[in-house]
Formats: sequence, C-alpha cells, structure tokens
Amino acid sequence: MSYPYQIKSFEQYQEAYKQSVNDPGKFWGDIAEHFTWRKKWDKVLDWNFTQPKIEWFAGGKLNITENCLDRHLATLSDKPAIIWESNNPEEKTRIVTYERLHKRVCQFAQVLKNNGVKKGDRVCIYMGMIPELAYAVLACARIGAIHSVIFGGFSAQSIADRLDDAKAEFIVTCDGAYRGGKDIPLKSVIDDALIGNKVVKRVIVYTRTRTPVSMLKGRDVWWEDEMTKVTDTLPVEEFGKAEEMDAEDPLFVLYTSGSTGKPKGVVHTCAGYMVWTNYTFVNVFQYQPGQVHFCTADIGWITGHSYIIYGPLSAGATSLMFEGIPTWPDAGRFWDIVQKYKVNILYTAPTAIRSLMGFGEEPLQGKDLSSLQVLGTVGEPINEEAWHWYDEHIGKKNCPVVDTWWQTETGGVLISNLAGVTPAKPSWATLPLPGVQPVLVDEKGQEVTEKDEDGYYKGNLCLKAPWPGILRTTYGDHERCRTNYFATYENLYFTGDGALRDEQGFYRITGRVDDVLNVSGHRIGTAEVENAINMHAGVVESAVVGYPHDIKGQGIYAYVIYSGKPDVDDLAKKDILATVSRIIGPIAKPDKVQFVSGLPKTRSGKIMRRILRKIAEGETGSLGDTSTLLDPAVVEEIRNGRL
Ligand code: WTA
Repeated sequence: MSYPYQIKSFEQYQEAYKQSVNDPGKFWGDIAEHFTWRKKWDKVLDWNFTQPKIEWFAGGKLNITENCLDRHLATLSDKPAIIWESNNPEEKTRIVTYERLHKRVCQFAQVLKNNGVKKGDRVCIYMGMIPELAYAVLACARIGAIHSVIFGGFSAQSIADRLDDAKAEFIVTCDGAYRGGKDIPLKSVIDDALIGNKVVKRVIVYTRTRTPVSMLKGRDVWWEDEMTKVTDTLPVEEFGKAEEMDAEDPLFVLYTSGSTGKPKGVVHTCAGYMVWTNYTFVNVFQYQPGQVHFCTADIGWITGHSYIIYGPLSAGATSLMFEGIPTWPDAGRFWDIVQKYKVNILYTAPTAIRSLMGFGEEPLQGKDLSSLQVLGTVGEPINEEAWHWYDEHIGKKNCPVVDTWWQTETGGVLISNLAGVTPAKPSWATLPLPGVQPVLVDEKGQEVTEKDEDGYYKGNLCLKAPWPGILRTTYGDHERCRTNYFATYENLYFTGDGALRDEQGFYRITGRVDDVLNVSGHRIGTAEVENAINMHAGVVESAVVGYPHDIKGQGIYAYVIYSGKPDVDDLAKKDILATVSRIIGPIAKPDKVQFVSGLPKTRSGKIMRRILRKIAEGETGSLGDTSTLLDPAVVEEIRNGRL
C-alpha cells in the first residue's frame, strides 16, 4: 500500500491544513478517492451544529471491512495483519495474515447471520484481548450489525445498563480472560448481567481460559461449534458477503462517561470514521508499509477500536495485539515484546509510562529497543518528567514522541504532532490535524484573545467545524448528544477539556473542566461514582472529586456521610469499595474514602465541589469564598480529617 495523502514536511502540513479549512469538500473528497467504494458519495459534507446534523460522504456506499481486508488480499494476503502476544510469555505467538483474517471474519460473519443477527442489530462484545475479539468486531461490520464493545473491567451491572440502553439482542463473549495473574470469568459476569433480561436472544461463547461456565439451553452456544457449522455447510465463497452500507449508517456504539450519572453511547458511522482513523494513523505515526505497530490499549476503549483495528487494518498495516498488562510477569514485559517482534511504533498511555518509570532502568537492561522508530502517548496529559523518560530511555532520543489528544467522541486524533514531520514540545499536543479547527473560549463562549500572565491563551477547548470522525449522535437519544456537546456554546463542539495555546499556535491540554475524572487514562464520571457509593445501605450522601495521583494521573477521592459507625476495622470503607466494584467495576473504586458529618453546600443545596477538590488536593491556604455556605464550620472539620 502507498499513502499519497501522507504528509512529508512541515510545509506540506501547512498547505494541507490551509486546504482542509478553505475547501473541506475538495480536500476530503480527494482523500476519500483512495478507498474502496461500492458507489461514490453525492456530497462530501453537510452539517450544522445546532441540531446537530453531520453527514460525510452522503450517498456513498461501502463496507469498511472491504477496506480493511478484501482490498489488501491481492498484495498483502500472506502479510501479518495481527500479531498476537499472549498474556503468558510461554504461549505461542499467533500470526494472523490478511488472508486468514479475511477468512475468519467472513466465517464469523456467517455465524452471526446463522444466529439471527441482521443489519442494524446491536451486538455486545465482552471479550479479552484475543484475535477472536477483532474477528467479532469486524464480522459485525461485515454484515452491518452495530458492535458495542464493553471493556472486560466493567461489572455485570454496567453491562446490564449498556445492554438495556442499546437494546442489544446478541452477545459475544469468552469463558474467561487472562489479565496478568488474574483470570476474569467473563461468561459468569454476563450471566449476572442477564438476570431478568428478556431481550438478549443469543450468547456466543469462545473458549479461552477453560473456566467452568454454565450454558443456558436455547440461549448460549459455543463459538467453535458455530464456526465449524459454517465451513461444514457452505463453500468459502458463499459465506460472509459484505453488506452494502450507507456512508452514514452506524458502525458502532461505544459507551463513555460524561458529567451525568449514566454513560452515553457514542455513535460513529461507516465512511467518515474509516477515513479519519486511516488518515490520522498514516499521518500521526507516519506509518511505513511493513512496520509493526503496537498500540497497548484495550479494544474495549476507543483507542483500541481506532488504532489496533480500523486505522491500521484499513492501511494494510501489521497491528500487534497484546493480551496482558505491562507489569506482568514483570515490568520488562513491553520491552520483551518490542524486542521479540521488532516493534517500530509504540503507542501507550502516560499512566503506563509513569508506572514503568517507577521500576527504574533495571527492567530495560539487555533489552534491544533499536527497532523503535516512533513513540506515542494518549489518554491524559503527559507530565514533562514522563515525556523525557519515554524519549530518553525508550526512544534513546532517536524516536519522535507524538502526544495525541483526542476523545471517544472524536473517533481519532485531533491535535498532535506528526512524527518527525512537525515539531514536538514536551507535554504539548501541539498542532491540530488538517480539518481540525480548535478555538479557546471563556465561560461565556467568547473566543479568548488576551494572553494570561504566563503568555498563553487559556480557555475551554472547542471545535468550530466537523472533521470526518466526529460522533453523529448518542445512541437512542439525539437530544442528549446536542445538550452534551453542542449546546454549551453556540455553533461549537465543546470537548470538556481546558487548554492553553502558545505563540506558535501549539496546544497544551490541561485536563477536564467538567465533572469527568481521568483515572489511568480511563474516563469516569464523578456522578457515576457517587451514584454507586450511594447504593450502599449505610451511605446517606457522598461527593466525589479527583486529586493528583503520581501514577494514575488522577485518583478518586470520596467524601461520604455514613449512617452507622464507620470506623470498625475499616469495614464500612471496604464495603463501599465493594459496592462501587459491583455497580461499575474495579476501575472506579475510590482511592480514598473520608467519612464526614456533612458536605459543604450552598443555601440552595448545591455541593461546592470546588472546596472539596481543593481539600483533596491538599490545599492548606485559603479555600476561596465560603461565605455562601450553609454551614461553613463543616469545611474545617473536613479539612482536619483529610486523608
Ligand atoms: C484526555 C481517549 C491530554 C482528555 C482517546 C480527553 C488527553 C479525554 C490526551 C478523552 C492527551 C486524551 N493529552 N489529555 N494527549 N488524550 N486526553 O474518551 O481529557 O477515553 O477529553 O478518549 O482524555 O478520553 P477518552
């Protein structure tokens, strides 16, 4: 494959940027020519942010899997599409060539059809990081079913909520999943999630861990049996025919946290998402044919969707998929993998870098990292110390580091340097990609035109116009999409992030300005955690805020009013953590739980989180204006009891 739209110099970047803003129709139309269409589009772009209504390549017909698989068969059939490394370093590598991937996807697509899945149906996928997860995702796309992948760390209750919201009738799962030293009983979690569920008709179960599972007659079937039925009954040419999709047909739903209690289903559509993930993959990482790309994210998050599956595969790349975690069996795991597969591009999260940095240089001894050419980070702001450690100890100052800022809602990277092509600046995401028009606004939505005392423009980060990968709606509730993203400021998409811009036009993302936490790169809403804590029988009320955490970036601090005696053996605290694990999942467990007798509230009953945040951060000086509080005395009591 060649990528005629790959930007090769800073001048080319500037030129492409200018064109993308002046004539987006022509710019993206030209790029879209490099994909496989059943029918070309009638109109490149149609949009307004008031409804919002956003259409890219309307009238176009395609199937994204023909772009990720079929079109590569002539030239790349025996090249690895996916290289899979097990959680267990002793287990054999699986190399899935494009030919094999195509066959497996077609085969599983037929399995889905045989089990009653039709175009537009929602299929929930709850699996570990094994190639079959990629097969399942692509098989859905192949037949036009809408996949909704749920991260393996979410609890039965979280799954039940998502199934319910998506009205999903089908589930693909595993008996269990390996993660480090743990064996997570996925099927059993699904069984819990399905108690009382009358909508799910079929659960397809792949065998990975040989954990005992209970298979419900008439509902549950084995992946392996279903796959054999396909090859036993149909000739290869017959199965898994790609469905012709409209450019704007939904491709998938992915649930993500916002500032309200319930996660929302972000909807991406076929053509725009395909063009955006491919374009950003090829440009940000400067992918060259034959390189091995290792994105360490889980496919349960958007980063895995876009940069393990759709971006790399649509570009005919080799994508390395890792089942395990960076610190198991030891903190040299990533470096062993880099050496073993001669990884060229490594894309990971600042939290992983900080955690590995904590182990010092020892795990790096004797590891050959010379294959590395590009390093990337994503998911949260990277502090300078971690950036430099990554650059020096991993990249040996020889690999450009790309700091990629984006969101579940943006489909792919929006602000980042292009590896080796545009300049890097530690802890700055730097420049917007072509098609991306950031603007910093104040509380009132006015564009910030004055610099602050440090010489930066500082404000809330918004985007003025759509790029092909922008979300189209939130599943089943378009109004929610409008109010969440398009109603805060008129005619702008609001990201929820705060940012700085310097003289050169570089952006630095400072973090969320709404009630969303970013814990180890995972988005968690404070309201969601509060709701979970409040489910505990002994809890009267709670308030949750974030605080700086050395490894996780942000930790979760919970203030809890408890009705019983909370201090017996820490039991109440443990019970509360168990409740949060049960309602959301272990990733949302507070790091600190402080029992308090009251919360700082205004006379109208609103909790003043600003004060709680300052206390959690360890502020010893002024907490700002507390005169509007109903009971100012409670503040000192809380501060004295800080953990
Ligand atoms: C944060 C992950 C600073 C940001 C792809 C955003 C970042 C949220 C960066 C989205 C970065 C992501 N620098 N902050 N390079 N990348 N973020 O939806 O707050 O899981 O709004 O998408 O992560 O998280 P999400």
